[in-house]
Amino acid sequence: MELESVMITGTNRGIGLEFVKQLMQLPKPPRFIFATYRDESTTQALKEIRDAFKNTQVVLIKMDVTKANEIEEARKIVESKVGEKGLNLLINNAGVLKMQGFSEITEENLLFHFSTNTIGPVIVLKEILPLLKKSADRNINGMKISRAAVVNIASGGGSIAGLTEQSNLFSRRFLDAMGYRISKAALNMAMRLIAVTIKGHGILVVNIWAGRMEHSLASNKGERTLSDGISEMLKTLQQLNDSQHGAFVDQHGKPVPF
Ligand SMILES: NC(=O)c1ccc[n+]([C@@H]2O[C@H](COP(=O)([O-])OP(=O)(O)OC[C@H]3O[C@@H](n4cnc5c(N)ncnc54)[C@H](OP(=O)(O)O)[C@@H]3O)[C@@H](O)[C@H]2O)c1
Repeated sequence: MELESVMITGTNRGIGLEFVKQLMQLPKPPRFIFATYRDESTTQALKEIRDAFKNTQVVLIKMDVTKANEIEEARKIVESKVGEKGLNLLINNAGVLKMQGFSEITEENLLFHFSTNTIGPVIVLKEILPLLKKSADRNINGMKISRAAVVNIASGGGSIAGLTEQSNLFSRRFLDAMGYRISKAALNMAMRLIAVTIKGHGILVVNIWAGRMEHSLASNKGERTLSDGISEMLKTLQQLNDSQHGAFVDQHGKPVPF
């Protein structure tokens, strides 16, 4: 995969951290990785990875996806590094999950998920779009992540059509992720709308379901390790093209019903 520059949100742990690690270990790693975090005191693992590989410049950026001023500052930092080449790939990964079912649901819980999981990725993309556009304009061959793309880390829990009694997404535990699932369903719609709106700009927009992995956010015994899950996703990202613009796919690139 030939990527010059990648920006990933929420990289101090979990999926985001593993993305940084695996991108740096690619045979042709990106020249720049812009890795965002919220709290400096949580960046030890990220700094160790940054310092372990010398072929990529990892730029750590403090950015809360719910804070417009921090998003704007982050854009300025990315812009100062990539210049006229623009940014190849934005991975909207930062997300939150606080279990609360309908019987105990609060407005606070719903807004918490909506502002981080839905509004955050939209506003980050809006701010970063001119940089993606610069990259798209330099290479006019089809849509792919090495040209310009935004990849949103989605969830099967956000699939409305997938919520059938036969599905494991129907389990008690997943029904209790109400705020999370509503916010991820809304993220799917937001990104599909954006995909339609910016069609013709050469910027690929895809929502990819990470699948269940063993670690923090989901706190579940997932089917795969984090390392296997991200390695699968990276293979899929390389295959994405025009036919998946605005789509919701699983970690293998297979369409997931909205
Ligand atoms: N884990 C799974 O099996 C799974 C399955 C499907 C989808 N996903 C999706 O994958 C993404 C990453 O999940 P994960 O499992 O890696 O979660 P995680 O381990 O809990 O990490 C979440 C990351 O998001 C950051 N974050 C949270 N709120 C933020 C905000 N307001 N601004 C900026 N960053 C913020 C966290 O930073 P702090 O450390 O500062 O909190 C952390 O870096 C999420 O979008 C999630 O919905 C995960």
